[in-house]
Parts: sequence; structure tokens; C-alpha cells
Amino acid sequence: MGLLAIVLVATAYVFAQSERLLRRGHEIPLVPLTVAYSAAADSVEGCRMAIIVGCLEGCHGQQGEGGSEDAPGIFRATAPTLSEVLPNYSDPELVRLVRFGVKRDSMTAVGMPSATFYPMSDADLSRVIGYLRQRPVMPPVPRSREVMFVGRLALALGKWQTSADAVDETRPRWGHLPRITPVERGRYIASIVCSECHGLDMQGDPEIMKSPPLSVVRGYRIDQFRHLLRTGEPISGRDLGIMSITSRRAFVYFTDDEVADLYDYLRAQPVVARLKAGNWISSRSSSRHRSNRSYRVAARSSLNVRAEIRRDATHWASSLSHDDYRELTGPSQ
Ligand code: HEC
Repeated sequence: MGLLAIVLVATAYVFAQSERLLRRGHEIPLVPLTVAYSAAADSVEGCRMAIIVGCLEGCHGQQGEGGSEDAPGIFRATAPTLSEVLPNYSDPELVRLVRFGVKRDSMTAVGMPSATFYPMSDADLSRVIGYLRQRPVMPPVPRSREVMFVGRLALALGKWQTSADAVDETRPRWGHLPRITPVERGRYIASIVCSECHGLDMQGDPEIMKSPPLSVVRGYRIDQFRHLLRTGEPISGRDLGIMSITSRRAFVYFTDDEVADLYDYLRAQPVVARLKAGNWISSRSSSRHRSNRSYRVAARSSLNVRAEIRRDATHWASSLSHDDYRELTGPSQ
């Protein structure tokens, strides 16, 4: 009886706490874009960027017709038909939704990767929004949103954050900083594209996405890396699931220069040992209010997995050995 009471109280706490996080209002000011959209000049690049960052050929369906964002056992949310929602939002409201994960009603979106979009430049956002507004109207898909118990528990424990809470406003907005060197340009692209699945710090997401740290690019020659992004085929020849699909649908639109910039930036990433997946929910941590980066560090240390940096800076300069590559990309090769 006593145990049952504890379970009931704990369950009620998880629901109340997760509901509070899902429903709380976020005070983010509406700020207009500083760059105007011109259909004649910007629609081709707007279309390309909309595909690369995943508004099209991504969660909202191939053509923006609507789809869903699904983290099995954690949450499932409709990614609505773009032509249904865009007219309801002014440009500043859309910018706030994209960069901060905050909807018109000031509540958070669920499944919107705003932490990834936060660094987008005004110029890129203006092109993407302007282009998407021009697209044909499509029949709306029904909306639904479900956060499962494990998802609620993760929210309550600070192991998973809502779209709005995941945005760290203290991070630099790379799109508004100089992009002169290849590393600066590559950092921008990686931060608004690759970080969605490989983490804001490019160290991989062993828990939900099961993606490796992008220092694995050290194991690639430039032509092999280009081949990966154009075809989805890694040097191991393995099918990479969502990575292979996203490469063929979206990364194929990177220019050769963008691929080269990404390559330079990612090869400059430190090599960190791959973390063991699983059991991430059960560890205790009150890291909800920390930045994403320190959240990850806290999650790692609390899980007590092999998170130590294994190589010193001088070693980072060299390529990965075959064994290192296998360790970073998983045991299944
Ligand atoms: C939609 C999610 C997603 C996005 C966005 C994404 N990746 Fe991945 N990526 C993955 C996943 C998941 C894996 C692991 C797949 C596996 O091991 O089966 C992966 C694996 C990789 C690998 C390892 C390949 C190997 O040799 O095993 C590289 C390199 C890579 N991604 C580069 C990138 C780059 C560069 C970007 C940005 C341009 C990017 N990814 C964006 C999901 C993504």
C-alpha cells in the first residue's frame, strides 16, 4: 500500500511538472528581420535552404504537406502543413517560432529543432520564410501531439527539453558573425544543419538519435566526405538510415565549396570517445536549467560512461585509425 502511494504521488508529480513545462509562457520579444525578401532574387536560394535545413524534405513532409516528428516512446507530434500555419504567423512571429521554439500563444513547440535554427542569419531566414510563403496551398493534415510517460519523465528530470527550453540564448548567433574563413563558414552550416542530430557541440547524440560525434570526419578524405553527403554512403558502406536518407534528399544540395568548408570545420572537432547508449533516463540530475552544453556534460558524468577526452590536442591533428573510426561509428560494421 505504501509503495502504491509512492508510485501514485511520483506519477502525479511527473505529469504536473511536465505539463507545467509544456504549458508555461515564454517571454521572447518579436524582432523584425533586417533583410527583405525579393522573390526574383531570393526564391531559388530560399528553396535550397528550406530543403537543407529541413523545412521541406524533412519533418513537415517532402513538399511541406505535413508530417510528424517522432521520438519513439518519448513523443509524437504533427509537423503541420506549412501552408496551413504560415499565414497565421507574421514574419517576426515566425522568426520567434523558428529561432526560439515559441508559438503565437507563447507556449513551446514540441519537436521543433529551434536550438539548431537559433544561429540562422537574418538573410537565410528571410529567404526561407519568403520562399515558403510563396508555395502552393496544400490540404492540412490533422494535428496531434502526444508526450508519452518516458518523455514526461525525461522532461521532469531535465533529461529532455522542450523546443523553447532547449534554446540557449547565450550561444553565439553564428549567422551574424563573420564567415570569412572555411572554418567559420563550415561552423555556420554545421550549427544550423548537422547539430539537429549530432548535438549542438557536434559530439553526437548517443541517446535519442544514436548519432556519432562528427570528429569521425577525420577518418574521411574530402572526396569520401563529399560522396557521403551526396549519396548517403559512408566509407564503411553501411546504410546509415536517417543520415543516408537526409543526405540524398537534402545534403545533395550543398555546393562543393560548402562541403569543403564543412569538412575543414568538422575535422577541427576534438575526438571524444563514443558514449554508451541506453539507461539515460534512470540517472539523477537537476540539470534542467543549465545550458545544453553543460546539460550534456552533466548527463555524461552522471551516467558514468566513457566520456573522457581520450586524446590530447596534438593527437587531434592526425587522422583517425581504422579502430578509432569503428569505435566512434558503432560496433555494427
Ligand atoms: C536527421 C538527422 C541527421 C542530420 C541532420 C545529420 N546527421 Fe549525420 N548521422 C545521423 C545518424 C543517426 C547517424 C548514425 C547512423 C548510423 O550509424 O547508422 C549519422 C552519421 C553520420 C556520420 C558517420 C558516418 C559513418 O562513417 O558511419 C557522419 C560523418 C555524419 N553523420 C555527418 C553529418 C553531417 C556533416 C551533417 C550535417 C551536414 C549531418 N551528419 C547531419 C543523423 C543525422
